[in-house]
Parts: sequence; structure tokens; C-alpha cells
Amino acid sequence: MALHDARPPFAAIGGTVPPEFAALPTPCYLLDEAALTRNAEILGGLAQRTGCRVLLAQKAFSNYDLYPLLAPHLAGTEASGLLEARLGAEEMPAKEVHVFCAAYRADEMDELLRYADHIVFNSPAQLAKFGAKVKAAGKSVGLRVNPECSTQEGHAIYDPCAPGSRLGTTRAQWDAALAKQPGLAALLDGLHFHTLCEQDADALAVTLDAVEEKFGDLLPGLKWLNFGGGHHITRPGYDLAALEACIARMQEKYGVQVYLEPGEAWALNAGYLVTTVLDTLQNGDTSLAVLDMSAACHTPDVIEMPYRPPLLDAGEPGEKPCTVRLGGPTCLAGDVVGDYSFDAPLAEGDRLIFGDMAIYTTCKNNTFNGMPLPPIWALAEDGTCRELVRFGYNDFKMRLGHRA
Ligand SMILES: Cc1ncc(COP(=O)(O)O)c(C=O)c1O
Repeated sequence: MALHDARPPFAAIGGTVPPEFAALPTPCYLLDEAALTRNAEILGGLAQRTGCRVLLAQKAFSNYDLYPLLAPHLAGTEASGLLEARLGAEEMPAKEVHVFCAAYRADEMDELLRYADHIVFNSPAQLAKFGAKVKAAGKSVGLRVNPECSTQEGHAIYDPCAPGSRLGTTRAQWDAALAKQPGLAALLDGLHFHTLCEQDADALAVTLDAVEEKFGDLLPGLKWLNFGGGHHITRPGYDLAALEACIARMQEKYGVQVYLEPGEAWALNAGYLVTTVLDTLQNGDTSLAVLDMSAACHTPDVIEMPYRPPLLDAGEPGEKPCTVRLGGPTCLAGDVVGDYSFDAPLAEGDRLIFGDMAIYTTCKNNTFNGMPLPPIWALAEDGTCRELVRFGYNDFKMRLGHRA
């Protein structure tokens, strides 16, 4: 009898391959509606119990066909700039639109103001440049602060509090700016910080101490405090009670509306990437398989961040009898997903299912080497699969030249 893979990324499909998957084209992203709904219910419940408002950070998940599943549970969307702000305004109508960008362009500000409710600036200079205009448009103005409190080690690429970071205003930067322009503080409706990455509420509590220590004097009189993203709220074992205590602490002490803007948590463990083995090779001691998906093109975080995606029924290298290095069909030597072990050797035509593939995938993929973009499908609660969108030659070509 086949053992079921009990890991959380495969919980929504019962740790096994549903028969409906056999008909999917590969490679193919598959978004799991039941898992998305469960995540949304957890986040919506948090908002209801605490009075905080939870936004969807669209940089992690922006498959708007499925926004209707999330909409009843969220207060709005968070955008990284004009295009995401427009997407949020159009596809999540009647909800709040918040924007944080490390630097705004003057030529986009008027259009941005049509979509945005909250605009968060990264620096005092940007606040000085645009703050009055944003306020005059009736929008809420915020500043992203850098509490200079790293709660993660060894991952400078994820850490906005790393020395020399460009993200967020330090206390020293704020004091220097205020000495020159004392009117800046009056522009502020709220503060924002984003310092966490896939972390639990204990790291948030430590961060809040640092925020209070560095910026606590600014909080009384402000309307809101945005705790940013990186809260892994929907992962099994996350300490929800500690998060709720953090929210209550700031709301009660300062009278601010707390916002959270997680991305991952909305779509954590709520998607798959189904791929087929195109070829198998042996190079010395190394067994290899070339897949029809590319890490560099279809799961770029595997290369950039880097991380190792979970693969259904596969183990760590050496854990099962056959260890195979899985790579993509592109020219890039480093287009490798990782080394995984299996009960039996892989063969051409085998299907593999990567888990936790709804986040930072479809919104980051690319067509390097002319790799086609995989179609995006949805898995409904009743187990049926349907295609949301497919891509072809024009989606590759249109970004490269004229469209005559
Ligand atoms: C400003 C901001 N908000 C929210 C997020 C979402 O973070 P996550 O997807 O880790 O929850 C990010 C991620 O980088 C971010 O930079």
C-alpha cells in the first residue's frame, strides 16, 4: 500500500496524487481552492477576534481569478507599486489599497492616487516630496521605519534590517530629516515596518520592543501601525495567541489601528507545480533527471533566495534508495531544483509534484531561453481541476519587441 506524504504542503491533497492530476498538462501550476479558503478563514478569524485589518501582499500571490475566495476575509490588498495597486483596486473592489514602494516616481503619482488609500514612504525625502500631495488627495500617509532589529540569521537577502539596508527609515535618518524640516512629522498618519520572513510571533514581539524603543514617541496620535508581512500565520504550529497579544498590546497602548500585510500566509501550502521527467542521465556518481519545468524560469526563488521546494513522496538526499539531481531544460548550469531521493529510479515520463507552489511563483516567473510560461489551473473543493489561463508564443514574444 502506498504511504501518504504527511507533510503540510501535501495535506490538502491527502498526501497522495489525486486521479484528476493525470489529465493535467505539464508543467502546470495548480492552485488549491480548499487550502486557500482554509488559510483565508484563519486570517479572517484573526481579524475578527482582534480588530486588526489583514491585507494581501500581492507580490506573493496575485492570481486574481481566486481573489473572490479571499475577499470575504481580508480588508484589502498591499501593492509594491502602480501596477499591483491597480490590480488590487480592480480585482478586489471596495477593499482598501495600500502601497509601499522603496521610491515612487513623480510621473506615476497621479495615477497611483486614483487607486491607493494608504501610501507608505520609505524615506523622509520621499515623504517631503510627495506627502502633502498625497494628503491633499485625501489619502493616508505613512513612513516605513527600520527598527534595526534583525530577528533572522544568515539570510541577509531577506533581512531589511541588515547593516546598510535601503529599506525603511532609521531613527538617525528621521532625526536628521526632522532637524531640517520639522513639519514632516505632521504629515504622518501611520508607521509601517516590515522586518520578518517566514517567522513566528516571538520574532514579532522582539521587533515590537525595538519599534517602541526607537519610534514609540511618534506613535501616540497616529492612526495606524502596519506590522508588514513575513508572519507565517497559517503554518501548522504558529503561535496565534502570541500574535493576538502583540496586536492587542499596540492597539490598546497607542490607540492605533493595526494592519498586517502577509503574502505567503494567504497562499501557504496551497499550490502545486506538476512536472514530467523528460530525460534521465548518469554523470559519474551523480544521477540526474531533466524536467519539463525550470527552476530559473518557473520557481525563481529556488535560485534567488535560495530554498528547496518540497516534492511529493521524495526524501532528502540519501534518505531513500535512489538520489537524483533534478534540473530544468534551460542552458543555465545552475538551473537545478535540488537533490531528492526516491524509492525507485526515475524514468522518462514520470510525473513529479512540487508542493507550496502558490507563492512567489506565477508572479515571478519568466521566459528565459524561450521557456513557455506554464498554464495556471485551479483545483476545486470537489477535486475537479479547471484551467484558469494558458500562455503561448505571443506571451513570450510580446515582451521583446514591436507588436505589428
Ligand atoms: C513591504 C512588504 N510587505 C509585505 C510583504 C509580504 O511578505 P510575506 O510574503 O513574507 O508575508 C513583503 C515581502 O517582501 C514586503 O516587502
